Amino acid sequence: MKPIQVGLLGIGTVGGGVFAVLERNQEEIQRRAGRGIHIHTVADLNVSRAKELVQGRAQVVADARTVIADPEIDIVIELIGGYGIAKDLVMEAIAAGKHVVTANKALIAVHGNAIFAAAHEKGVMVAFEAAVAGGIPIIKALREGLSANRIEWIAGIVNGTTNFILSEMRDKGLDFATVLKEAQRLGYAEADPTFDIEGIDAAHKVSIMSAIAFGIPMQFEQAHIEGITQLSAIDIRYAEQLGYRIKLLGITKRTPAGIELRVHPTLIPAKRLIANVEGAMNAVQVFGDAVGTTLYYGKGAGSEPTASAVIADLVDVTRLMTADPDNRVPHLAFQPEAMQNLPILPMSEITSSYYLRLCVADQAGVLAEITKILASHHVSIDALIQKEALEGERQTDLVMLTHATKEKNMLAAIQEIQCLPTVMADVVKLRLENLS
Ligand code: NDP
Ligand code: HSE
Repeated sequence: MKPIQVGLLGIGTVGGGVFAVLERNQEEIQRRAGRGIHIHTVADLNVSRAKELVQGRAQVVADARTVIADPEIDIVIELIGGYGIAKDLVMEAIAAGKHVVTANKALIAVHGNAIFAAAHEKGVMVAFEAAVAGGIPIIKALREGLSANRIEWIAGIVNGTTNFILSEMRDKGLDFATVLKEAQRLGYAEADPTFDIEGIDAAHKVSIMSAIAFGIPMQFEQAHIEGITQLSAIDIRYAEQLGYRIKLLGITKRTPAGIELRVHPTLIPAKRLIANVEGAMNAVQVFGDAVGTTLYYGKGAGSEPTASAVIADLVDVTRLMTADPDNRVPHLAFQPEAMQNLPILPMSEITSSYYLRLCVADQAGVLAEITKILASHHVSIDALIQKEALEGERQTDLVMLTHATKEKNMLAAIQEIQCLPTVMADVVKLRLENLS
């Protein structure tokens, strides 16, 4: 059978990996796909670098629209990134009747609903395995492997840069700014690492997983997002003493009132497997009512790990191209007419346990005042440590863990505690998830 003809838009880190792995494993891939998969044309702004990579094995052009207009091409891979030109090109490829494969989590999270609607209309596929957790086949697992389950929650370490930073802060006791510089030196964090450290990249990924898990539209704009820039090394140490690790988790949960969708630094019991995911690795834990807990672990970024997911999509699309559009796996797992409009809960309505650190005057009655306020807001204490005041100091740290409560109760209690004259600094509040 004639090989599938592919147009590759962008041959940077991931595009280069896709080209190399497709070349290296072409025989194995063909045996799986049932026909050859051939990169017909590469479009990249840097034509000379692209030509060097391709070595005459594909045409190289500067203008991506040439690829989209080429009737020979069946599948377009978008590996440019962002939601500027990449969005236009994806929409134009769909309008031209091409199937699309992309690794672009920002594009899918922000414009996925419009993209899938256009693809549905045209009867083409848009595949995006590499958009969440790079090489880990988590989209496939959620969309197909777990399709018997009512998925209850997902919690994931889906940003390698921040996980590397948190691991280094814990291992070496360094502060955030020092480790960020190291992450940039090692090439983990980008020159502008805002999307990583502010939690936006993780929120893109968890928004995509939430839609697939619960059969709801993509709602990135409603996600609660906190990054790791405000995290102190001292809280990582106290968490450790209490038996917890702090990770930047993307969390989405089904509750009777709606869906929780949030990204923030989170204490997790140190004995959980996911708490031991270190360095730039990713892991996603999913709880389904039938299967219980499942955990997916691997490289969430990098040239060939990400190419692995992109090529898996190419194989899927190749196999399914001849299938009736109504019999393909739906983009967001659920049939478009069966999507639900479950509300995303405002942050005040989510339920969590909490870690609190209070810098308090070292004098009689302080603890009693604080616990009274917590009790009046229905916040129950689970564990508490008080550090001995340093010699000559008249203040000390009070660290406590609470049982689960509504965020609004916790915020009201903190507001009151903050007004006590014996509380000497801003109360530090982190959320805690047992993931049991
Ligand atoms: P790169 O910046 O390395 O590659 C993008 C390439 O696209 C560059 O070669 C760039 O050329 C080229 N390009 C830019 N504009 C155009 C255009 N208008 N037409 C044609 N080519 C263009 O990015 P990555 O490979 O790292 O990322 C690609 C996508 O994969 C992004 O969406 C990213 O979020 C996603 N992703 C990346 C991962 C990773 O590990 N890197 C992991 C998971 C997902 P030039 O350099 O000349 O600008
Ligand atoms: N910047 C991302 C990370 C790349 O650090 O995980 C993969 O999406």
